[in-house]
Amino acid sequence: MTILVTGGAGFIGGNFVLDWLAEHNETVINLDALTYAGNLDTLVSLKNNAKHIFVHGSIGDRTLLEKLLNEHQPRTIVNFAAESHVDRSIHGPGDFIQTNIVGTFNLLESVRAYWNNLDTERQTAFRFLHVSTDEVYGTLSQEDPPFAETNRYEPNSPYSASKAASDHLVRAWHHTYGLPVLTTNCSNNYGPYHFPEKLIPLVILNALAGKPLPIYGDGQQVRDWLYVKDHCSAIRRVLEAGKLGETYNVGGWNEKANLDVVQTICAILDELKPRADGEHYASQITFVQDRPGHDRRYAIDARKLERELGWKPAETFESGIRKTVQWYLDNPQWVDNVTSGHYRDWIDQQYGRPA
Ligand code: NAD
Ligand code: DAU
Repeated sequence: MTILVTGGAGFIGGNFVLDWLAEHNETVINLDALTYAGNLDTLVSLKNNAKHIFVHGSIGDRTLLEKLLNEHQPRTIVNFAAESHVDRSIHGPGDFIQTNIVGTFNLLESVRAYWNNLDTERQTAFRFLHVSTDEVYGTLSQEDPPFAETNRYEPNSPYSASKAASDHLVRAWHHTYGLPVLTTNCSNNYGPYHFPEKLIPLVILNALAGKPLPIYGDGQQVRDWLYVKDHCSAIRRVLEAGKLGETYNVGGWNEKANLDVVQTICAILDELKPRADGEHYASQITFVQDRPGHDRRYAIDARKLERELGWKPAETFESGIRKTVQWYLDNPQWVDNVTSGHYRDWIDQQYGRPA
């Protein structure tokens, strides 16, 4: 038995591959283009694990996909591969259109050809799970109920628009061609191996480096945080028992304003690694220019997943964020490797601007 994971050298895909191989005696083909966000250091513990087969390549490469699918005959595909950072999508939307929309289209077409040629038993057992985001639903006011699966799609950034488009393609390949798909729309993840362009790892590492902690606008934007291992367990559960063609919202019931998140991280660092000068890390907080079109609030109603499939997150925000800060303190080698090269160029482009 084999599964194919795309984007498995990224933050969530990497955590998923590690968790999967810890729990299943099944080969994982890991197809990743190794963009700036792909990091094989995350998978170093699998170096001698014959069950992990890494393939450097793109979901847009149909020749490669045809070869991989026919050779390895996966029973399931989990599609994490994407451009994932909202700020980058604002600076340069082209890669997002190419990977998230055109790439997903090419992947779906390759998978459709492969699936059509399976025997009936294997066709019935096959699953294509598309990993998506809560951002496709747009933004909420303080009074709105959290996003349910029935909410309209109202994406506001080039990133979320490209993910919305990919979700629509996946849906259409099910309705038109019968491809056995599942889609998950998850809230903000955090945890080990998170690339430090995103708020939580950026703040932990900037704090430790004595750098400013940049808060966009007034810092009162709300995100609904989920520990990455809980996202992985939700995906596993949807693969096991999800109803074909359905979408499932995944969230942690952890709505927090950005400023509160940053202050919480600072307080944990004050306790675990106090600054040498006795100052609080929160003194490094700096308000910077807001993100254009910044969505004010995301919140996920994850009751369908709990009601129908019995899934619940294991971590609270308080337990998950403490584990996360501790992980970054315990893994300086991973951090040093990731904070070199391209990543520094991005920091100059994004933060070298007046408030
Ligand atoms: P990430 O940016 O950390 O990783 C993306 C991975 O995809 C990288 O390893 C990259 O090399 C790879 N990739 C990019 N283009 C590719 C291509 N054409 N072919 C093959 N691989 C390619 O992203 P992430 O945060 O791990 O997110 C993974 C998925 O989960 C994305 O689809 C994202 O939209 C979705 N998601 C993310 C979050 C979050 O909070 N990070 C929340 C909900 C959903
Ligand atoms: O909601 C799910 C989405 O969460 C995923 O689909 C995306 O792939 C993922 O990147 C994430 O998107 P966000 O834009 O919410 O995450 P980010 O970490 O970039 O920002 C979180 C919040 O913090 C957001 O309101 C912007 C703010 N922020 C971010 C950065 C990088 C700051 O205030 N300062 C910063 O320097």
